[in-house]
This record gives sequence, structure tokens and C-alpha cells, in this order.
Amino acid sequence: MSETSLAFFVDLEPAVADFQESVVEGLSGTPKSVACKFFYDETGSELFGKICETEEYYVTRTETALLRDIGPELAKLAGADSTVIELGAGSDLKIRLLLDALDRPAQYVPIDISREHLREAAKAVAVDYPTLRVGAVCADFTASMTLPENAITETGGTRIGFFPGSTIGNFTPEAAEAFLSGIRPLLGAGGALLIGADLQKDTDRLNAAYNDAAGYTAAFNMNILHRIVRELDVTLDPAYFEHYAFYNEAEGRIEMHLRSLRQQTVQIADKSFDVQADELIHTENSHKYTLDGFSALAAKAGYASEARWTDAENLFSIHYLTVAA
Ligand code: AVI
Repeated sequence: MSETSLAFFVDLEPAVADFQESVVEGLSGTPKSVACKFFYDETGSELFGKICETEEYYVTRTETALLRDIGPELAKLAGADSTVIELGAGSDLKIRLLLDALDRPAQYVPIDISREHLREAAKAVAVDYPTLRVGAVCADFTASMTLPENAITETGGTRIGFFPGSTIGNFTPEAAEAFLSGIRPLLGAGGALLIGADLQKDTDRLNAAYNDAAGYTAAFNMNILHRIVRELDVTLDPAYFEHYAFYNEAEGRIEMHLRSLRQQTVQIADKSFDVQADELIHTENSHKYTLDGFSALAAKAGYASEARWTDAENLFSIHYLTVAA
């Protein structure tokens, strides 16, 4: 497939040094942590794909089915000639469902940290939607980024941010508010945000979703250690850690940790970290919202709730928010 099928490819990918610095910073804290954005190297992205197919992880299939159902309403809300800016080029299927639902979408701009996956995914969309202007931005969209001027052109239609999968749940509510507020200029006046948010539910169901029987979630969590070993100058044996995930009801979130199976020392470059037996390294939060709780968060971040949908079992929600005047 030729590179020219993309209108532009902006590369703002962070350097390896950022990974090492971030891991050192996380292990220096109390409690120790590693940022969940580092889950997604090639192996991590593949494992995440497997998680999405498990019986226990209801998130993906519920959101996908919901997206299919609400297509006609989305087309009405967004109008013709829209620009879709996807935050994280995650699922091929979800973006296609959205593009197919919209009335003559004019432009598609995925933003993702994983350069090769992004390039291939964007090119595949460009080939299958020949009338769409497709450009991609390789960047950490959770950090502030400056896009080259005029990379995204004015199409005369609505600019829609697309943030599916409940990735917003991986931010703390405070960080989620700051993030949502921070992307308002990207969407602009009259812009919209189509966002998925996972809902609070039965604790057993949540615990099962993050402890699937096939062990994909455990492997996904452990892969962050394997990645550290693969990419950084470290002395660390992943075999001395195990996956630990549970629903913290008071905080309304799944927490994922790596539990140390013994007392050990982890060495990164010239720094060493003592890790006690049973000590936890926090790798991820996955916040679960109530419908009104999420709408209230969006309002604090400067959005109006135009429409919101849930599935029949009230497992998952999708919100169509507009940038408040
Ligand atoms: C990407 N994110 C929304 C997933 C979640 O459910 O928080 C990541 C994940 N972690 C474990 N399983 C899935």
C-alpha cells in the first residue's frame, strides 16, 4: 500500500528515554507504579485484542453492538461532512461502524502512540474509504501536543472526537476532567465528543472481566515487565511477580497491580529499588461510572450532554457530548 494514500503522517512519538524516565519515576514513588500507557507495545496490543474477545470482558462487544444500534442517531446529530479525530487508533471495527453510520464523513485523523499499527490502520481506512481525507498523528494523546497548522482541514462539518473503549476510565476522575477539558480546543466551537464509559455493576462481574480464565489479562499485565526487560537497561525477573486485579468499591475502579512474590531488588541503569515480598506495583486503574456521574464529569470539563445510550443490561454507556459555548 503506498504511503501517498495518507494526506499526512505527523510523527511526534516520544523517545525511549521517556519510557526509562517514567519507569524510574514510577518505581521511586510510594506506592510504586508503572504508567498503563506502556502496556501497548506489539505484544501488549495483541494481548489486549485477546482480552477483548474473552467471554468475561463484556466491554468491547457491548460497545460495538451499541455503536451499531445508534448509527442513525449519530448521523442526525453530527450532520454531513464531518471530521472524525480518533484518540487512540484502537479497533478497526469501531471506527468503520462510525464512518459507515455518518453522512458523507469528509476527514479521518487517528492519533496513536504505536507508530506502525497507526500507519497500517490509517492506510487501510484510506484505501477502503477513497473519498475520505485520511491523515495520522503519532503522538501520546494523553500529553499535550501541538499539531502542525492546517494538518486537519476545515470540511464545513462537525469535528467529532472519537474516544471509545472506556479508555477515559484509565484516568483518575481529576485527570479525566483535565484531559477532556484539554482536548476542547482540538474539537473547537461546535465540536463534539463521542465517548464510551464503562458503568458500575456487580463486583463479581467486574472482577471476572479483569481476571479472565484463559489468563490473557494476567499476561497483558505481566507484559509490562517483559517490555521493561526487553527495552531498558534493567536487572529484573518477571517470574518473581504475579498479576493481581480487583474492584475497589470505595473508589469505583478496577485496580491492576503486579505483586512481588519475594523480597527482591530491581536495578534500572544506575538506580536500584528494593521491593518487599507482597509489595504491589500499581499498573492500572479502570474507573467505572454511573450514567449521571459521567455526565457530571463531562459538564465540569466544559461539555454539554446531547445524547447518551446504554445497552439493555446497563453494562456500558456511550455519550455524545458537545463543546459548551
Ligand atoms: C483500554 N482500557 C479501557 C482497558 C480497561 O478495561 O481498562 C484496558 C484493560 N486492562 C485490563 N483489561 C483491559
